[in-house]
Amino acid sequence: MPKKAVIFDLDGVIVDTAKYHYLAWKKLANQLGFDFTPDQNERLKGVSRVKSLEILLEIGGVSLSESEKERYMIEKNENYLSYITKMDENDILPNIKSLIQHLKKQGVLIALGSASKNAKQILDTLKITFYFDAVVDGNEVSAAKPDPEVFLLAAKLLKRNPDECIVVEDAAAGIEAANTAKMLSIGIGKKEILNEAAFVLESTSLLTNEFMDKLIGN
Ligand code: BG6
Ligand code: MG
Repeated sequence: MPKKAVIFDLDGVIVDTAKYHYLAWKKLANQLGFDFTPDQNERLKGVSRVKSLEILLEIGGVSLSESEKERYMIEKNENYLSYITKMDENDILPNIKSLIQHLKKQGVLIALGSASKNAKQILDTLKITFYFDAVVDGNEVSAAKPDPEVFLLAAKLLKRNPDECIVVEDAAAGIEAANTAKMLSIGIGKKEILNEAAFVLESTSLLTNEFMDKLIGN
């Protein structure tokens, strides 16, 4: 089936915000009296804010009341946003902007499929909002990745069938979501973590225009 649309995850694919999510969760973990390693952080990638907190608390063996959870999520997000507001176009990961421009020139549709509730603000900060034919983020979906809802909704807004879509993701949960949606999955990161992806590239610098042309059939 020819591919007519590419759905990009945001954090860790378009921009390296994954490190800021990690730093903000680590700060909270330390505050609650336990450490939080980059390996443990892999479990938080791609999942919603509330689910991330639940996983973090499980790792630390800490239980909190609902109101404390709310308070800590607000605190984590404020801390996260303090990093985000300092970003600009230079924080876009290698080749992503030129790839998006290249795809658009060929009439390939572009969507965002992100779990983040901060996605629109980040796209604006990076000045790339206008490239997107559809934006689906954490405010629009009820089921978080690995549920395929975010990608299926993006395909629906683009009026494309799932098997016409390619998903670019850095999280194991996102690859699972793309595969369940019956889309072609490209993982950005380590093979050991993203082993369910149809293709794994170590970084976005390997996500070249030529590589995508081959998948699209150009
Ligand atoms: C995903 C990130 O894109 O968004 C997760 O990979 C994050 O780490 C999730 O928890 C929710 O983000 P936000 O910005 O709504 O807290
Ligand atoms: Mg991601």
